[in-house]
Parts: sequence; C-alpha cells; structure tokens
Amino acid sequence: MNPAKRRTVIAGNWKMNFTPAEAKKFIKAVTPLVAGKDNCDIIFCAPYVTIDAAMKAAKGTNIKIGAENVHFAPKGAYTGEVSADMLKAIGVEYVIIGHSERRQYFGETDETVNLRTKAALEAGMKVILCLGEVKEQRLAGITDEVVGMQTKLDLAGITAEQMKNIIIAYEPVWAIGTGLTATPEQAEETCAVIRKVVASIYGKEVAEATTIQYGGSMNDKNAAELLKKDDVDGGLIGGASLVPEKFAAIVDAAQ
Ligand code: 13P
Repeated sequence: MNPAKRRTVIAGNWKMNFTPAEAKKFIKAVTPLVAGKDNCDIIFCAPYVTIDAAMKAAKGTNIKIGAENVHFAPKGAYTGEVSADMLKAIGVEYVIIGHSERRQYFGETDETVNLRTKAALEAGMKVILCLGEVKEQRLAGITDEVVGMQTKLDLAGITAEQMKNIIIAYEPVWAIGTGLTATPEQAEETCAVIRKVVASIYGKEVAEATTIQYGGSMNDKNAAELLKKDDVDGGLIGGASLVPEKFAAIVDAAQ
C-alpha cells in the first residue's frame, strides 16, 4: 500500500453466507475489533437480503456495507435481478462487479461487467471491479495480457472522473478459496501491470490514485506481507471475512 498516494481498502466478500440475523451478530462482534482503525476503509459486501440488517447493525460505526452484484438495466423484465437504483434507495454505496464466481458460474462476460459498472457509477455508487487470470493462463505465461485485456474491456467508456469511484480487485482465480495465495511478489507484479494499463488509458495521475486490491486466500497470516507491497492497496477477502478476529487482524495489518 501507499497511503500517501491512495486510500487503502479492506473489504469482505461474504458471498452466499450469512442470514440477516447472522450478519447482525457478525457486525456486532467485529465492530469493537476494528473501531478507530481509520487508515483504511472497511467494507462488507453482503447478499441482497442481508444488506439491510447489516447496514442497521453497522450504523454509526466505521464499517460500510455493499452489495455483491447489480444489474445493468434500470428496471424491467429481468427476473431475479436487482438494479442500481434499488440498491441506492436502501443506501448502498459499494458494489462488487465481475467477481470470478459470477464469470465462472453465471455467464458474466467483460461486456456485462462493463455494463453493470456503468450502471452502478451512473447511480452514484462505488464499484469494486474484480478481474484476474485462471491457472492455465498463469501457467501459459499470459497473465499480463489477460488482466490487461480485462482492464481495458471492463473500463471501456468510463471517464477519468468516474475512475475516482472505482476500486480494482486483482483476484487470481487459482487463489480464490483454494488456500493458495499469490506470493507478495506475484500480487505486486500483477497489480502494477493493471496500474500501468490504467495509466495507458487515463494517465499516470489517475493510475496512481486508483486503489488496487489483492484478493485470493488473503488471511490474518499473510495479509501483512501482501499489504507491504507498494501496489497492493488493500484486500478483497472471502473466507477470512466470515470470522471477526481474522478479518480484524487483516485490518490491523493495514494500519
Ligand atoms: P477467499 O479469500 O475465500 O479466497 O476469496 C477471495 C474472494 O473471492 C474475494 O472476493
């Protein structure tokens, strides 16, 4: 991280975990552990039905609650989907878009990631935009090309001004939920590649100000080493975001 240049963001992605009651219990438990830890923004992204309970529990704390996805149409015949305006209406400020699980299991493409991102930005939300290579791509030595292409396609048509509301999460797919973590060097190297691509589109100033998180089996044990790297501006955390002490330890590592 480089707090002089950009905001550090530690975010939990709860995925399909926590009922409203469980979310409330979790927020109550984690709140005292992260209170006053103001060197980073702290966000938990929750399943739609859990957002309201989590927001109520987090009211008056330094914890923000986000969503895990959003549809790109303003409204209409999209059974099962939720629009950006609907999320805004209940006070949601952040949304994860393009998570690899959405890409892998639900047919998400760079095109739909781009559409969702634009819809969320237009509604005034902040986006955590996820991208990353799969194992075969890393082994084939094409990681830089893959993340470069994703960065360009996912950000197509987004203005430099709108980049202020974008956080990029570099999540190597082979490291998600596998216990395999990218080494701090791998995380740094690829986050730097993404920053370079952002610079090629928007210029150096925008790139230097963009928060680029690492995600993929980040936990209380490895967070400090990862966050030491200049281009790793935080974490997007799955499994360890479900355990108050583990998540709080990651927040501590970012102080
Ligand atoms: P894990 O931390 O469980 O590997 O999940 C990472 C992730 O997918 C965050 O979005």
